[in-house]
Amino acid sequence: MTRSERLVDVETLRFAYDDTPVLSRIDLAIDEAELLALVGPNGSGKSTLLKCLNGIHEPDAGEVFLDGTAISELSRPEIARRVGYVPQRERGRYPATVFDTVLLGRRPHASWRPVDEDLQLVTRLLDRLDLSELSDRPFEGLSGGQRQKVTIARALAQQPRLLVLDEPTSDLDVRHQLEVLEALREERDRGRAVVMAIHDLNLATRFADRIAMLHDGRIHAIGGSDVLTPETIEEVYGVRAEVERRNGRTVVLPDAPIATTSHDAVH
Ligand SMILES: Nc1ncnc2c1ncn2[C@@H]1O[C@H](COP(=O)(O)OP(=O)(O)OP(=O)(O)O)[C@@H](O)[C@H]1O
Ligand SMILES: [Mg+2]
Repeated sequence: MTRSERLVDVETLRFAYDDTPVLSRIDLAIDEAELLALVGPNGSGKSTLLKCLNGIHEPDAGEVFLDGTAISELSRPEIARRVGYVPQRERGRYPATVFDTVLLGRRPHASWRPVDEDLQLVTRLLDRLDLSELSDRPFEGLSGGQRQKVTIARALAQQPRLLVLDEPTSDLDVRHQLEVLEALREERDRGRAVVMAIHDLNLATRFADRIAMLHDGRIHAIGGSDVLTPETIEEVYGVRAEVERRNGRTVVLPDAPIATTSHDAVH
């Protein structure tokens, strides 16, 4: 099955864990050279949707098309050449140095061993993410934030058409948050599509081209910074917030939770 010219096309996707529906009808198209932020409450299905985008989860209905091809028709290696994925929590064990962990990102493209360009790319990415000094350190001995950046560098090393990142800045201090998001924007400028789940609405509006607000298994609102309004924030999060435009930027100032609302809870 082949479809459309969009880089990513999610069509009427439905997903449930056993009998618990999580995503009920998701339609979403993402273009190349676009950075999309996926926001929404805990448990609203962001991670689940991202796992559908890289074929970890198979939807119960609907389909994800990548470059016009249904992802269900691609093999794992074919997906790995096209999609880089950074999970919310890295559970794998890597008895390797930081350099070798990032080099693993080249594996979908490499033949039997890495060539000079692979090594140069890893060196450049370590430098870009301020990780060069950790290059020879074992991955396992790193702090949470350092690990998070190494996992991001590994996904960038894949040089995929689509980058999928699940809360890529959750463990980072403010400087490294900005650094990683700048690096993701550069990847966008190289023509990649970047989709990231992120909780910080101010970072989402500052760095993303579009924001999709997930709520009740659907995309409640999608668009530029102007989708973040006191109304949508109340509907989606059950929180009163002020939204200001300052020097061309959107600033969200959360005020107080609203007691009686039907916003998603932590399940
Ligand atoms: N492996 C699983 N088995 C059963 N239910 C799951 C599983 N993973 C997630 N869920 C449930 O699916 C719903 C969506 O979870 P998901 O992890 O996609 O949310 P999220 O938006 O990423 O949340 P958070 O902001 O906390 O990361 C939640 O109710 C969660 O409990
Ligand atoms: Mg999640």
